[in-house]
Amino acid sequence: MRIIVAKDYAEMSKRAADIIASQIRINAHTVLGLATGSTPVGAYEELVRQYNEEGLNFGNVDTFNLDEYIGLGADHPQSYRYFMDEHLLSHINMDADRAHVPDGLAQNPEQECEEYDRLIRDLGGVDLQLLGMGGNGHIGFNEPNDIYTAETHVVNLTESTIKANSIYFNNENEVPRQAITMGFRTIMQAKKVIFVVSGKAKSKVVKEALEGPITPKLPASILQLHHDVIVVLDQDAASEMKLKDNFIMTDDQLFR
Ligand code: GLP
Repeated sequence: MRIIVAKDYAEMSKRAADIIASQIRINAHTVLGLATGSTPVGAYEELVRQYNEEGLNFGNVDTFNLDEYIGLGADHPQSYRYFMDEHLLSHINMDADRAHVPDGLAQNPEQECEEYDRLIRDLGGVDLQLLGMGGNGHIGFNEPNDIYTAETHVVNLTESTIKANSIYFNNENEVPRQAITMGFRTIMQAKKVIFVVSGKAKSKVVKEALEGPITPKLPASILQLHHDVIVVLDQDAASEMKLKDNFIMTDDQLFR
């Protein structure tokens, strides 16, 4: 595990975007796993900038998003499909057919999950998975649990996630209670993972996840077992971490 500590959110975003951009430059046919939430927004802005100003080419890229709320369609402003269009997909040269988000309006969500996994498998799996983390340690919508669920599946969201995500809705009652999420197998089989965490509020949870026991009760802790994960934290998120030997400080900090 490599841990990059960036001085702030902007630098964290730039670091994460540079890793994603390098991957696309090395392999134009990259299969990217994408995440929603406020944390990756800055990285998406930087990728759009590189598309506009540096010719970063998304023409042969496929993307798979981690998750989607059940009950929200592509035209709902809080759906993750809408989020991705707004922050990334509508600004770059990506073929709409190659941008995959689970269908929150699927008549048969279980079947949608199976088809999503099949599609990922057919394209050879995820080359690079971008991950954020919920305040309770969830990745995708894999909530704290007693077991790891391997496949893409339907989940019941926890009260803490409903509360945390309600800031994007008019009120808590509007937050869907269920979602479709990629399971741990797809995430752990991604050839490379970038895990981005920002802010003091998540500093204790991220420390637990990366330095504590590996347990489905803290879903992000499974990343300790991934063979190629780059963690990009800002200083606030890294403030509780003890394993300082693993840190790669950014140029700015090294040369201070
Ligand atoms: C949602 C998403 C997660 C994301 C999390 C954190 O619950 N399903 O994939 O990591 O939000 O969001 P934020 O980055 O806004 O804290």
